[in-house]
Parts: sequence; C-alpha cells; structure tokens
Amino acid sequence: MSDKQQVVAALAKALPEMAAKDIADKIERPKDGNNGDFAFPTFFLAKTFHKAPQLIASELVEQVDQTGFEKVVVAGPYINFFLDKAQVGANILKAILNDPEHYGELDMGHQANVTIDYSSPNIAKPMGMGHLRSTMIGEAVARILEKVNYNLIRIDYLGDWGTQFGKLMAAYKMWGSEEEVKKDPINTLLKYYVRINTEADEHPEYTEEGRAWFAKLEHGDKEAWRLWHWFRSVSLERFQRVYKMLDVNFDSFNGEAFSAQKMEEPIQLLRDKHLLKSSRGAQIVDLDAYQLTPPLIIKSNGTTTYITRDLATALYRKRMYGHAKSLYVVGAEQENYYKQLRAVLKEMGFNWWDQLEHISFGLMNLNGQKMSTRKGNVVSLEDVLNDSIKLARQQIAEKNPDLENADEVAKQVGVGAVIFHDLKNYRRNAVNFKLEDVVKFEGETGPYVQYARARAESILRKGGIRDFSDVDLSLVSGEAWELISFLGQYSEAIKRAALNYDPSVVAKYALELAKKFNQYYAHTRILEENEAQPARLALTQAVSDVLKSALALLDIKAPDEM
Ligand code: ARG
Repeated sequence: MSDKQQVVAALAKALPEMAAKDIADKIERPKDGNNGDFAFPTFFLAKTFHKAPQLIASELVEQVDQTGFEKVVVAGPYINFFLDKAQVGANILKAILNDPEHYGELDMGHQANVTIDYSSPNIAKPMGMGHLRSTMIGEAVARILEKVNYNLIRIDYLGDWGTQFGKLMAAYKMWGSEEEVKKDPINTLLKYYVRINTEADEHPEYTEEGRAWFAKLEHGDKEAWRLWHWFRSVSLERFQRVYKMLDVNFDSFNGEAFSAQKMEEPIQLLRDKHLLKSSRGAQIVDLDAYQLTPPLIIKSNGTTTYITRDLATALYRKRMYGHAKSLYVVGAEQENYYKQLRAVLKEMGFNWWDQLEHISFGLMNLNGQKMSTRKGNVVSLEDVLNDSIKLARQQIAEKNPDLENADEVAKQVGVGAVIFHDLKNYRRNAVNFKLEDVVKFEGETGPYVQYARARAESILRKGGIRDFSDVDLSLVSGEAWELISFLGQYSEAIKRAALNYDPSVVAKYALELAKKFNQYYAHTRILEENEAQPARLALTQAVSDVLKSALALLDIKAPDEM
C-alpha cells in the first residue's frame, strides 16, 4: 500500500458512502510540511451534510482510522495527515524484502487471456527499425500486463503470404542459386526481389511469371510450397537470432499464410450479412458511416487481401484463445487500417470488436534521418545491437578493466541501452537514435539505471548482510523518506503503464529511482558502522530489488557488476 492509499483507507472508514477513487481525487499534498503529508479538504461535503466545512472536518476526524499516522489533526476545513514515517517506511521495505520478485504486482487481469501481436516482420526481407520498435514495445507491454495478472499469448504474425512471394519465386527460378541464398539468405532474397521489380518494367512477362507462381502456391503446387517453406524457414532463422539477443520468445509464429487457409469463413459471413459491395469488379465493405475509406476484401482477379487475412486471423484468435483483449503493436502509419479492421468486425456483428486495440508507435530516426526499407538504406537490427555491445564493451574496459565476465555484461548493457532508449519516451513520439547517446553511462540512459543498481550491489557485497529479517527498518525512514516513499509508489507506476500500454512510465520510474538512490548515496555513508547501518543496507537491498524488477519489466537485464 502506498502512503496515499493509506490515507484513502483511513478516510474510507469515516466516509463509507464515498468510493475510494473519489476520495483519492480529493486528497492534496500540502506544500508546507507544517500542514502534514496529506490534506483532505471538506468544502465539497458541505452540501451533502448541510453543515459548515469546519464542523464536518472536526466530526470526521473522530472517525478516521489513525493507525499508521503520527497524528491526524483538523486545521479549519482541512483534515491534515502526518504519516508515521518510521512505521510506513518500515512496512514498505518489509514488503519488498519479504518477496522482491512479486513486489508491485496487482490483480487487474484476473488471469484473463490477452493476445499480443508484435514484431511480425515480413519474410525474405531484413527486419527494420519499425519491427525492432514493435518487438521491444510489445515485449515490455506483455511483461507489464503479466505483472498485473493477465495471461499473455505472444504472437509473431509473420508476413509470409501475398503476391510478392510469387515474384520472388519467379526471380529465384531465373537467377537464383541455392548456394548464394544459404550464405546470406535475407539479403540475397531481397536482391532477387528488387531485381525482378526493377526489370519488370521492360519485361512485362516477369510480372506474369510472378502471378503464375503465386497461383501455383495458392493451389498447393509442390515446388511452390517447397520454395515458400524454405524462404520462410531461412528468414525465421535470422529473425530468431535477434529474438535471442533480445530474450524474446513467442508462443506462435502463425502468420499470414496460416490465415490465408482460413478465409472462407469471414468471406461467407460478409456475404451472409450483405456487407460485400461490388466496386469496379472488386468486393469492398462500405464504411462511410465510420468516415473510413472502404477496405478491399476480394480483388478483381479473385485474390484476397491483407485485411481479409486479418479478419480470418481475428476470428481464429478469438476462438482459439478466448481473449479479453487482442493487441496489435504496429506503427502509427497503420492507424487507419486498424480502425477499418475494428469497424468491419463490428459490422459483422462481433460484439468483441473493441477488444482489438492498436498499440501504435512513432518512427525511429537514425541520426536524424528517416530509415526506410524501400529506399534501400536498410539498417540491420543485428548491426545496431552489435555496435551497441561493442561500445558498451569499450566503456567497461575503461571503467572496470578487471571485470570478470566483461563480455557477457557488455551484451546486457549494450542491448539494454538500445531497449531503454526505445522505451523511455511515450511510444507515439518519434525516437532519434544516436548510438553515442544511447550507450552513455550518465544521463537518462539504460546503462545509468543498470549502473545505479550495480553500485547498490557492490555496497551490499561490502556490507556483508543479506538477511534483513531482524533489522529495525524504521531507523532509516527519517533520513531516506523520499526514497522510501518512492519505492512505495512502484505498483501505481505499473498500474498506469498497464492501463495505457505505456512502458515509458516504468522506464521513467526506474530512472527516477536510480537518481534518488544516487542522491541518497552521495549524502549518506551507508557502510559506516553504526546503529543505522543494517537498516541502510536493507534500504539498499530494496532499491536494488525494485530496480531489477523494473528493468525486467522492460526486458532489460541487471548485471550485479559492471
Ligand atoms: N507484417 C506487418 C508489417 O510489417 C505487420 C503485421 C501486424 N499484424 C497484423 N495482424 N496485421 O507491417
């Protein structure tokens, strides 16, 4: 329980008619410490009670539960609460130290299923920065929702279907070599694909060839499927290398191809409900009522489209997982598309259409420049991560040349730095990525947070105590109240992050906690042998635990030494 919640609880006993949330909204934090840590104004109750606020305050205070407070007093129309900091602080520390792994957990989800569709790169193409953002934001959101007791199903919806694969097969048949693909699968396949597209202007027969190959694929031709399978598995192998570096694990890789086999149902339903309209030989759904452009469901040549596959996917997921929410972590440029998807499901009569939510995010720029696949300046994710690891390794060599497992730590710091940078600002904002800023040990960076925790661990190693069960924790509350009360706010941060699918709340919390701990450390000799030392070490342990937990929610490792 945070200190504010404690005030709410105390007032709730005196005001049984009022909802806890409404009480919380009224509580103020006085600027002047003489007025207590919290104040509750009573003006708004005058109407209900037909009494002067002063009188209400003095009557209410009699009924307020005073446990956990040094005193609760009336000051005119206000009730002022002075926390018993020794007691409250000790309770917060005890809660952390008793069960560090579960500290901060809430039950918002009651174990309900949530599917989360993230990363979802397209095969035979390098994974770009957009997919990197989707992977990191998605993983953090998944972890945060698990922390508030949802059951997560992680889905990598591979882009492994569409006419472009027909073209790729045609290109491979003309110019491809197995050897070459094996050496560098994704770049080689991309090269064939780019070539057939460029040359198709002069050779319209290439386009025909591509179409023919896609038709073969659709009709189950053996050779077409062999190639598809091969392209897909070499691509996935490459993606897995990145997932491994990021420690991301999916429950399903069912992508567009999987859904392409399940298309009859949504199409039949659309027909039955008379939602399909002909438009220049194609079939569309009219979404005028939603002020949305009409999505194309069946093309004039009879093939289905991306949204048709997503409709099949949505039906499958609802049936398979019985989800309470179905999340899609995809760039902001697709906002309109997800509006269409939800609207079509609504038109189809599925009352769960609003369980689908688009978790959108802004672009990532590299050194101020836009990164795009189509223009060819593709930035490989693996390269970015490897560069970051290298830079981290250099910094460690300077700061701590004797570190034993320096290579492993450099990985944790380098990868963590990239993730933290991605997550520290609200996801819809654009991110500029400049490696030197990302891997710094000072400033608002991942390494800064990791370093604060490593410092705490180093103090604890020197302090020697790791069991704090017999320590009088109240001894530290006075001098470190701000730090301890902030530790008490961890679950509130998690709650806000979960409600808004916003990992930046957790990232900012971790930064602030690291800062507050560094300030405390600068003013207090934690290791000095005196009566307060065990309690100070206990506080250091609690800070280390919560920093580790917050980093873990962001999918960032916390090395004990760096
Ligand atoms: N493959 C898509 C892309 O790269 C993202 C897929 C998102 N998920 C979905 N169910 N449509 O843009």
